[in-house]
Amino acid sequence: MLWFTPLLPILLTIFDLAYSIDESRLVDAEKTLVWGPGLKPDEVVLPARYFFIHAVDKNGRKFEQSPPQEFQVLIKGNSPHGKCRSNVNFIDRGDGSSIIRYTIADWCDQVELEVRYNGSHVAHSPYVIYNKVYSERCYCPQDLKLWMLHNNCPSGLNDKQIAWDLHSFKRVNFSAIRENLLRRYNQPESVSLCHYVVKQQQIWRQCYGKYTGFKMFMDATLLALGRVALLPDMEFYLNLGDWPLSKKGGQQRTSGPYPIFSWCGSDDSYDIVLPTYDITESTVENMGRVTLDMLSVQKSEYPWDIKEAKAFWRGRDSRRERLELIELARKHPNWLNASLTNFFFFRNEEDKYGPKVPHISFLEFFRYKYQLNVDGVVAAYRFPYLLASDSLVFKQDSGFYEHFYGKLSPYKHYVPFKRDLSDLIERLQWAKENNDRAREIVSEARKFVEENLMPQHIYCYHMALFKEWSTRLVSPITVLPGMEKVEQVYTCSCKEPPYPRDEL
Ligand SMILES: *[C@@H]1O[C@H](CO)[C@@H](O)[C@H](O)[C@H]1NC(C)=O
Ligand SMILES: *[C@@H]1O[C@H](CO)[C@@H](O)[C@H](O)[C@H]1NC(C)=O
Ligand SMILES: *[C@@H]1O[C@H](CO)[C@@H](O)[C@H](O)[C@H]1NC(C)=O
Repeated sequence: MLWFTPLLPILLTIFDLAYSIDESRLVDAEKTLVWGPGLKPDEVVLPARYFFIHAVDKNGRKFEQSPPQEFQVLIKGNSPHGKCRSNVNFIDRGDGSSIIRYTIADWCDQVELEVRYNGSHVAHSPYVIYNKVYSERCYCPQDLKLWMLHNNCPSGLNDKQIAWDLHSFKRVNFSAIRENLLRRYNQPESVSLCHYVVKQQQIWRQCYGKYTGFKMFMDATLLALGRVALLPDMEFYLNLGDWPLSKKGGQQRTSGPYPIFSWCGSDDSYDIVLPTYDITESTVENMGRVTLDMLSVQKSEYPWDIKEAKAFWRGRDSRRERLELIELARKHPNWLNASLTNFFFFRNEEDKYGPKVPHISFLEFFRYKYQLNVDGVVAAYRFPYLLASDSLVFKQDSGFYEHFYGKLSPYKHYVPFKRDLSDLIERLQWAKENNDRAREIVSEARKFVEENLMPQHIYCYHMALFKEWSTRLVSPITVLPGMEKVEQVYTCSCKEPPYPRDEL
């Protein structure tokens, strides 16, 4: 069938032309699909509410490119300040679908979400919301079970990773292990660890170690979760460092493993993984402090056919294989464009692997068809963002993982390559020769992201893990002497807050 290949683009062009004058390629407002948690803002409270639109034509076929006109979204309603104040943001995914996200100030009543195309209401628009809609900045916790129901969260043990991580910790008596746990991990020079206690909706912590700045991420996470749901009383020790702490083998064989929560897991440790501080912050600060998040990264600026058929990589020198990647790129400039942006770990080799290049915006990575995920100190936390993009992801084999890796399959969601990079060029060749398969993998990866890594899922994972975890703690949850209280932050409330407002 090789002879056929050159003909294909010509045929496609003719079809394209035909469609552009064909009535059937007009958007059918009624048939167009609209879905997502942002359509139920009274039940699903997130920092930014979001929903999806997929344009459908008069023949009922989904668009595969952006439709000729933009959709219009309007949020109507009343608020304490008069009209409901909102901020709406569009993300065009370039495949006929877009993400609409919005925030509201304080609360709004009698909310109607209007979605229009060329003046006409789309799908079931207007979406009428019967209950008051609160901003995520309001202190308004729902019962946890109800919250999980509203958000369609799987229960803890239905999540493979949570079930796996907790299977070694069926019954945890912190009164019995606390002293030994601290003896083992209170090593201020090398370990940074915080003990968190959540009791009656209040958050307390005590940190150990020299570098504990990253506690701000867990503080913000627990505060955000506590604003929207009633948290179970619980305690846990969080590793703020990169490397998993609760190593298999050695001492743990006799003492039993210590339960440590970490942002990165590994095959040779018992650490219980949480979504990374990075993806969690971009969830909690969505449409706020962060510009790169799991929604904004889906903006498609470079359609597949204009992307350069090369692998692109930028990053710092945090692992030997990253240096080797630079060497490989020099040997195969037609396949790889890779450079280091910073030298820190291998400063004395800057002459060989430099010069370092300036940072470029993450969205610019997607000028290139192929993206590489190479471990840094631990797992590279860019992986979820790469999967959400419209480029094909190549992932280095690794013993490190984030909370969602267990649900991914090689060749379904990404293309794997060996840890020593020895088959990387071969895999790139494969992708170039199998363009359709490559595009299928990209589309599966994006589907995975939509079903597992959106803000709602990051909230769910925390809640499901904490809920399941709390049932395993057998010693009483107490605020220990020396613990510091993490004050709740909110701008309005619909419930009696856990402590008086003037404590703010
Ligand atoms: C928009 O609507 C007008 C009148 O309702 C119609 O004539 C026009 O073709 C529509 N445009 C598109 C792009 O659907
Ligand atoms: C937990 O450990 C403490 C100290 O060893 C012990 O006194 C207590 O009975 C244990 N609690 C449970 C529920 O096993
Ligand atoms: C590598 O990528 C950068 C950023 O897109 C580009 O400016 C540069 O020209 C590329 N290098 C080569 C050799 O293609």
